[in-house]
Amino acid sequence: MFLHANGLRMNVVTAGADDPVLFIHGFPLSNAMWSPVVRRLAARWLCVAPDLRGHGDSEASPAASIADYADDLAAILDQIAPGRPAVVVGLSMGGIIALEFFRKHRSKLRALGLIDTRANPESPEGVARREQMAQAALTAGSRALADVMIGSVLSPRADSAVRSGVYETMCRTSPIGVAAAARALATRPDSFPTLPLIDVPTLVVVGEEDAITPVETLRDIHEKIPNSRFEIIPGAGHVPPLETPERFGTIMESFLAELPSCP
Ligand code: MLT
Repeated sequence: MFLHANGLRMNVVTAGADDPVLFIHGFPLSNAMWSPVVRRLAARWLCVAPDLRGHGDSEASPAASIADYADDLAAILDQIAPGRPAVVVGLSMGGIIALEFFRKHRSKLRALGLIDTRANPESPEGVARREQMAQAALTAGSRALADVMIGSVLSPRADSAVRSGVYETMCRTSPIGVAAAARALATRPDSFPTLPLIDVPTLVVVGEEDAITPVETLRDIHEKIPNSRFEIIPGAGHVPPLETPERFGTIMESFLAELPSCP
């Protein structure tokens, strides 16, 4: 379905009913990366998987901050599940946005899933690299970025259909959306001070072969979040929901099943 959030036309997949689980995809992907887990969880949960602004079929804005993405998601939840706190699950850039969602929209949050993500602010070299990325997307198109990223985003043993699906999604992402997201990642806040303050049940997951946000990065996040749960998925790289959907789905299901009921 399409709905409006902060003046932009947003594409949102919903499936199932009852308690909401919001899925936030990574950069420069789309809500398609959550399809296997949404299919599985929709039997019990209201799954909400938006395309972030400038990704998939959602309208782009020439500039965006991590806070803008979080505000879009809060506006989407207000329309789809008003007054019902959501489990918010984000992968990579999605996890960075989920941490911002915790800071800005705590009352709408029931639990957190942080998947293959990071809490640190960008380094000076990283800021320069992301600006090059933004310029490359605007001048040469998103394929230029896809050609660079596809080599590191998945485990070498990833299924070839998964690999080509991820590559095509990256190529399809609007260059304006890619540039805005690269710049948002360059200026992302330092989330380390947030981690000890997290007071909702939190699941931290990483693919054992993640070359972008490795196991130690996620272990560190887990150790800083009180009472969080940590899972390492063998055979997965940076996108376990697509690479190892069975294992990822089982972990999600068991985390969700153990959540305290809503007040
Ligand atoms: C992502 O998957 O969202 C990206 O790898 C994030 C990043 O480049 O840091």
